[in-house]
Amino acid sequence: MSFCVALDGPAAAGKGTIGREVARRFGFAHLDTGLLYRAVGARMLDGMDPVEAARALRREDLDRDDLRSAEAAQAASKVAAIAEVRAALVDFQRAFARRAGGAVLDGRDIGTVICPDAEVKLFVTASDEVRAERRYLELAAAGHDVTRQAVMEDLRQRDRRDSERSTAPLKPAGDARVLDTSDLSIEVAVARAVDLIAKRYCK
Ligand code: CDP
Repeated sequence: MSFCVALDGPAAAGKGTIGREVARRFGFAHLDTGLLYRAVGARMLDGMDPVEAARALRREDLDRDDLRSAEAAQAASKVAAIAEVRAALVDFQRAFARRAGGAVLDGRDIGTVICPDAEVKLFVTASDEVRAERRYLELAAAGHDVTRQAVMEDLRQRDRRDSERSTAPLKPAGDARVLDTSDLSIEVAVARAVDLIAKRYCK
């Protein structure tokens, strides 16, 4: 049986943490779709044509250790605006969403384009300040040389680009539940998501 949880939202809203934890609790597979775009972006920075990079993307491209950098994030959001890049990544994501045993995918267009019939759709968001602080702490802890101001600028630029692009723009699906995590600890945010999913999954 398949069961798809679609987690969308702006940069650093907590989708990844919620996705990983939800997958662990329900035994679902988890796909961080942002990693696909980061991997294509990183190959573009290496000099490859982004459309070719998306078409030729391999499993091991997702294991590069430079994908979490701010440079890879910016490159990801640039290649993500190219319709042919997105088209090359659709089949893999759709197959993942409908794999047996359940799947949770986090990204920007999961509930709107990749899996419009997802059993649960959550749009995870938080204020700019909270998202920037969380991402700053995450990057600093991982040893990246960043400032709060640069992180805020990166998030704002990407959110603008992601929302304004014509193909699969960042926006909540009409039937998505909005989960604002600005004032929630990660434990409470995860618990809210788990509750919503459990209502649908146990039926
Ligand atoms: O972790 P964070 O929320 O900062 O970003 P991410 O999920 O790793 O995504 C990096 C970039 O990939 C985003 O800024 C989007 O431009 C793009 N992306 C997308 O367009 N569609 C997706 N389903 C996932 C990511």
